[in-house]
Amino acid sequence: VGALGDFLASVLNQNTTAWRSSPAAVSLERALVRELARAVGCEGFSGSLCGGGSAANLMGLALAREARAPANEDGVQPGGVVYASSEVHMSIPKAVALLGLGRKALRLLPVDAQLRLEPGALARAVEEDLRAGRRPLAVVASAGTVNTGAVDPLDAVADVARDNGLWLHVDGAYGGLAALARPELFRGLERADSLSLDAHKWLHQPVDCGLFLFKDAGRACAAFSFAGDYARVLGGAGDVEGFAFFDESLELSRRFRALKLWLSLRYHGLAAFREAIGRDLANAQALGEAIRQEPRLRHIGQGVLSAVCFQYAGGVPEAERDAFNAALMPRLNARGRVYLSNATLEGRFCLRACFVNHRTRSEDVRTVVDEVLAAGAALEAERGG
Ligand SMILES: Cc1ncc(COP(=O)(O)O)c(C=O)c1O
Repeated sequence: VGALGDFLASVLNQNTTAWRSSPAAVSLERALVRELARAVGCEGFSGSLCGGGSAANLMGLALAREARAPANEDGVQPGGVVYASSEVHMSIPKAVALLGLGRKALRLLPVDAQLRLEPGALARAVEEDLRAGRRPLAVVASAGTVNTGAVDPLDAVADVARDNGLWLHVDGAYGGLAALARPELFRGLERADSLSLDAHKWLHQPVDCGLFLFKDAGRACAAFSFAGDYARVLGGAGDVEGFAFFDESLELSRRFRALKLWLSLRYHGLAAFREAIGRDLANAQALGEAIRQEPRLRHIGQGVLSAVCFQYAGGVPEAERDAFNAALMPRLNARGRVYLSNATLEGRFCLRACFVNHRTRSEDVRTVVDEVLAAGAALEAERGG
């Protein structure tokens, strides 16, 4: 249904800029965004659809900079420091660099045993920067890290953010939509100032379906609108439901992205998505368990969501396992039955399985294990192991 919606959006080719030129598409997108925000526990947030999590993260930090380090009277914008865990997605350093904050303005903080940001480490880093005369700007909490699906302690991070005047951006691009199925894992999500979600990940949409949400539309307008009074005088550029999309986000010309997601939700119902996410979570747990039961595999890391990291051990000496698994991954994928990516955990090269597909069945979990064992044995034999 999502693919059909995408096709229809191309046929209509509606440029979804503002209500004035695109009333139906804008109204539908606004309603959809409100519905999704409410569904993940962020009632009252607004926002828009965008290309993906990277774009949403860039916008989140743009709002943070505008809110916490506005330009002075001469138009000079001061810098500031952004905090995140060492497990944060690469789109965050990219956003920090693109915003001109300087690559050194990102503090990558230590994580706890479950690979989650440590609120104590965050508080200490902020204190140190304040003492050194630097300006703390924002903290990025991950609601599902890309490597293991760890969810940072959102409530505790929000407390530190509140106490220190930091903007709280939550990167939920991979995991945030699991709040539909497991809201208890995401306590504190509603305390975010801005939030990234990716419907092309865990709402199974054709790619190009990110979602950027914020609590205060005025902040978004401060970051993105250069029309100022002109828009207000004209009246037309404003949206009947608030600002025009181009006044509160990066893009001007925009696809009618909402159509595919809205159609999917209407056709299948939110409950079907909840169930599909629940199945993915259960499959990930089952894979973790199967790996722990299998002496030829080593389970290395798994958060509360659907990413599972492990190594093929077989008869490979410990010191050679990283290189062996790095060689194994492309061979495994070339067999064409399963597709695994990789992650580096504790300095080790891991195979990474991530379940976000509504078509994955519980039988596929066994296939992952069997395929890794078969590909691993073949590589060992080839190397004379
Ligand atoms: C945690 C996290 N943030 C951001 C992104 C970037 O999302 P996108 O690929 O939609 O730009 C990803 C993608 O894997 C992710 O896992």
